[in-house]
Amino acid sequence: MSTAIYLNTARLGLMLPRVQRLYGDFLKFTGDEVSSLYFDKFIYFGFESLPNKIQKIYPFLSDWKGISNFKKSLKSILSVPLYATTDAKILLANRSCQLMKLGANLLFLKSPKVLTTDLEWPQYKAILKQQKEFLGGKIKTVDLRSFILEDNCTREDLISRVISAYDKYDCDGLFISHITFEGFRLPVEDIVKIITSQKKKPSFVVVDGSQSFSHSPLNILEYSDFYITGCHKWLRAWHPMGLAFCSQSNSVEFITTIYRQMLEKGKLDDPLLNFTNQLELGSNSAFTETVNLNSLFSAAAAVANILEGNQSMEQKFKKLVEQVEKLEAVSINYHWTPLVKNDSLKSGIGLIKSTKPSIRALTPKQLRASFQSHGIDLTAYGKGIIRISAPIKELDINDYKLFHKALDFCHS
Ligand SMILES: Cc1ncc(COP(=O)(O)O)c(C=O)c1O
Repeated sequence: MSTAIYLNTARLGLMLPRVQRLYGDFLKFTGDEVSSLYFDKFIYFGFESLPNKIQKIYPFLSDWKGISNFKKSLKSILSVPLYATTDAKILLANRSCQLMKLGANLLFLKSPKVLTTDLEWPQYKAILKQQKEFLGGKIKTVDLRSFILEDNCTREDLISRVISAYDKYDCDGLFISHITFEGFRLPVEDIVKIITSQKKKPSFVVVDGSQSFSHSPLNILEYSDFYITGCHKWLRAWHPMGLAFCSQSNSVEFITTIYRQMLEKGKLDDPLLNFTNQLELGSNSAFTETVNLNSLFSAAAAVANILEGNQSMEQKFKKLVEQVEKLEAVSINYHWTPLVKNDSLKSGIGLIKSTKPSIRALTPKQLRASFQSHGIDLTAYGKGIIRISAPIKELDINDYKLFHKALDFCHS
């Protein structure tokens, strides 16, 4: 059965119609003009650099306005005043894990003791550990998962638990998710604010924003040195691309020096990061790896879509949370329990657990397939846990009927 309800944006967001249209024209343009001067001009200077006759043939390419304008438009959707400063910097990479590698290096160069949580994305935690082995330093972990799920903690409890661990282990750096892969919205702004007011500002803060960019408001940028995210989840540009926002003016120079050193020494292996760095430096080596630039164009169309929309990030976030709550409310009738109880920790990603032993015994693959057979795509984990991420469009009565049917099937 094809997918009728897509509840998997936390993994890969569905491609926006605007991105699809751009891709259609991009494929034609590439096929027709790849070897012409127009193609190079388009990449570097954008649609406006093309002659009128070419613009008329491929009108949906108009969202691409060149790399520096793309970075400017990214800054404008962040709507954080600090971000208007010219010091703020954005890095673009084909693979977000290379940005995490850079983030881990920055952390250990500045902070010998880094505090993190047990809620972090496993691959990023492994990168943090690897870089610690190379550079020296210590990682301390504060356990939050059972505190949230079993002890039903409040936002304030969570803040004080993180801050006491930070004090106890005498840490001076932080690596933490803004919204975790399981959908817990962590109060990172308050944690950094309180540490700064009670002790001293952490030497370096890296925030994993993979699940929060274009999902929730980003006041966090005022409190993080290095915020890592991607374009393929909530931005719905579909083509994977990593972004890092460096918004603290006192760390931008340090970050720039380190990432350039790492690129030169081959310690960062990312063609797009290398390409954009060469552009910034005004150098153009003929011997760099061939780089896939497609993700730039799709992200530009997705960003243009936000800029032309009239919904604030606060409104968008509120709606996404409500959509998840509605689905959670349905699931309760079929012996499923929503796992996050405290409103302030909720996001547009919900975690629901079945109370039935037969469902808990299914493998994640079997559980996911059971929903897929009813036209619902979501993420399934072991022990009868599913993760639903809010659909972008409001679900209608027929969608709810399908959801009821899938849950009823699991129930019977
Ligand atoms: C919190 C979090 N961090 C990092 C990642 C990895 O992101 P990417 O898809 O860019 O590899 C994910 C992926 O789901 C995630 O949920």
